[in-house]
Amino acid sequence: MILGRSPKRSHGASAVVTGAGSGIGAAFAIELSRRGSAVVCSDIDDDAARGTVEAITGAGGRATAVHCDVSAIDEVTALANTAQSWFGHPPTLVINNAGVGAGGQPIGEMALDDWTWTLGINLWGPIHGCHVFTPILREARSEQPRGIINVASAASFGAAPEMAAYNVSKAGVLSLSETLAAELSGTGIGVTVLCPTFVKTNIVESGRITAQSSEAANLLMRWTGLSAQRVARDCLDTHDRGGLYCMPQLDAKISWNIKRFAPETFTRTIGLAFRASAALPGRSD
Ligand SMILES: NC(=O)c1ccc[n+]([C@@H]2O[C@H](COP(=O)([O-])OP(=O)(O)OC[C@H]3O[C@@H](n4cnc5c(N)ncnc54)[C@H](O)[C@@H]3O)[C@@H](O)[C@H]2O)c1
Repeated sequence: MILGRSPKRSHGASAVVTGAGSGIGAAFAIELSRRGSAVVCSDIDDDAARGTVEAITGAGGRATAVHCDVSAIDEVTALANTAQSWFGHPPTLVINNAGVGAGGQPIGEMALDDWTWTLGINLWGPIHGCHVFTPILREARSEQPRGIINVASAASFGAAPEMAAYNVSKAGVLSLSETLAAELSGTGIGVTVLCPTFVKTNIVESGRITAQSSEAANLLMRWTGLSAQRVARDCLDTHDRGGLYCMPQLDAKISWNIKRFAPETFTRTIGLAFRASAALPGRSD
C-alpha cells in the first residue's frame, strides 16, 4: 500500500485540521504539535476548538482556533484565507477530519433530512476541503513536503445495515481520496485516507443515531475501540511513509481484503449476520 518514499510531512508542518475540537481531530492536532507543527484547529464548536488550542499552547506548542462549518463552502474558503494569514504562507498539510455519525434506520425509513445532514458534513466537507486546499497546496513553493489526509472509515467498504447515509458518505471520501492521489501523482503532494473501525470518541453521543443502535455502537466502541491518539499517530506515520490507505485495526484490514477478493460473499455474510441479529430477543423491529 506504500506508493512511494516521501519526507516526513507531519513534522514541522503548517497544518489545518477540521473537527479539531474532539476525538480524532483533537488527537491529530495535539500529535502534530508534538511533532513540531503549527496547527490551525477548526471546528463548528468554537469552545471545543479553543480547548484543543489550550492543550497545545499549554504544552508549549503553536495553535489557533478558527470557526468553520465544513458543509459550507464559504466557511472553508474563509478557513483557508485565515490559515494562510496566520501561518504567513500556505498550509503544508490539511486534514479533512470533521464528521458526524448517523444510523439506526433502514433505507426508506431514515429521514431524508438526516441523509442531507450526514452527506453535507461527511462527504461535502472533504469535497470542500479538497476543492479549496488542493490548488493552494499545488501552488505552494515550500521546502516542507505537502499532503492531504481525508478521514473516511471502514464503513466506506463495509455495507453495515441501517447505516446507509454514513456508509455512502464514507465510500465517497474513499473514492475522492483515491482519485486525488491519482491526480496528484508526481506532484510531491501525498494523500492518505484513514479507514478505522471503532475509535473511542464522542461520535455516537453527538450524532443522529437511534437509541438501540447507540447502545450497540457504544458497547463495540468500549470493547474494541482504539484510542484516538493511537489512530492519529498511526495515520500520521502512514502519511509520512507515503501510504495511501491507513487501516489502523486488524478487523478493518481483514474486511478490506475479503471485500476486495470475495465481494458477494462479503455482502451476503453481512446480510445473514443482520438477519440473525434481528431475530435475537430484545430486538424490536
Ligand atoms: N469514532 C469512530 O469510531 C470513527 C470511526 C471511523 C471514522 N471516524 C471518523 O472520524 C472523524 C472524527 O470523528 P470523531 O470520532 O473524532 O468524532 P467526534 O464527535 O469526537 O469529533 C467530531 C468533531 O467534528 C466537529 N464537527 C461536527 N460537525 C462539523 C461541521 N459541520 N464542521 C466542522 N466541524 C464539525 C464536532 O464539533 C467535533 O469536534 C469523522 O469523520 C468520523 O466519521 C470515526
